[in-house]
Amino acid sequence: MKELSISELEARFQHKIDREIKIEPNDWMPDVYRKTLIRQISQHAHSEVVGMLPEGNWITRAPNLRRKAVLLAKVQDEAGHGLYLYSATETLGADRESTIDDMHNGKAKYSSIFNYPALTWADIGAIGWLVDGAAILNQVALCRTSYGPYARAMVKICKEESFHQRQGYESLMVLAKGSPEQKAMAQDALNRFWWPALMMFGPSDADSPHSAQSMKWKIKRFSNDELRQNFVDATVPQAEILGLTIPDENLKWNEERGHYDFSPINWDEFYQVLAGNGPCNKERLEARRKAKEDGAWVREAANAFAAKRAMRKSA
Ligand code: 3HC
Repeated sequence: MKELSISELEARFQHKIDREIKIEPNDWMPDVYRKTLIRQISQHAHSEVVGMLPEGNWITRAPNLRRKAVLLAKVQDEAGHGLYLYSATETLGADRESTIDDMHNGKAKYSSIFNYPALTWADIGAIGWLVDGAAILNQVALCRTSYGPYARAMVKICKEESFHQRQGYESLMVLAKGSPEQKAMAQDALNRFWWPALMMFGPSDADSPHSAQSMKWKIKRFSNDELRQNFVDATVPQAEILGLTIPDENLKWNEERGHYDFSPINWDEFYQVLAGNGPCNKERLEARRKAKEDGAWVREAANAFAAKRAMRKSA
């Protein structure tokens, strides 16, 4: 069979994308497509794993056994999402150890939102409601991403994510309908998490270096600003049901647009957090590096056991 030129291969690849045919691990793909997916999926995985830290800090301080059990289940889910997504990067030829090291040495990112502290129990509700709520919007869209393993991972993850969002919202509902002090705690959590949650969707479309290509390859199905707007439109009515006020004096329904208008985002803050200068960046990376060191003996024991078993089999 005649060897196809790169441009013929690229044309065939784009044709499959345009016809909504999933790209699978053994299919030919442009190097940049592969690299973009490894970048995005590995950072998604890092976000899941680092996201366990703020919530994990509250497991021993949950107000009752039911909240503790729900939070334990959620944090365990996030670990599973991370492992699932690291496995998806391995289908693209990424090496898990070096992928994780890239996060530890600051070469790879994780979601900015996890560089904010969870100061009160209400923050745990706000994280479920807002952070997982934002993640769901982004991840439901990713169920239709062009790379097969990523799309399929998203289907499973989204099922668990909706439980995460609901438990957070329900927890905040109890506080918002509780004593004045509890309602004030819920409002304080909304005040501190609202804007960082909007930043989760990434820079504005005009400032996104990756979106155009990712949209052409249907890695991304909606732009950052589209998903952000959908999140605001969906979340404002939820805040009204809670009786809480969104911390944005310019937030207003725009009948003509059919969307809420909202104030500009503080992009300086966003890029400062991305540069490692957020409230918890240092602490989060230290925790992850320590977890890797503390877990070294487990990996060594597992590898030694696997090597011994392989030797016995080959003897
Ligand atoms: N935090 C950290 N970095 C961010 C960011 C954020 N909120 N938003 C954008 N960035 C980074 C991008 O990674 C990119 O940097 P890089 O080139 O070093 O990777 C740069 O800013 C430019 O942004 P772009 O919008 O051009 O980049 P993308 O096209 O990759 O879009 C994204 C960014 C929308 C986050 C996209 O990568 C994506 O959809 N990722 C998958 C979903 C994900 O990672 N979600 C994070 C939260 S997961 C979560 O919350 C778990 C839940 O269970 C709690």
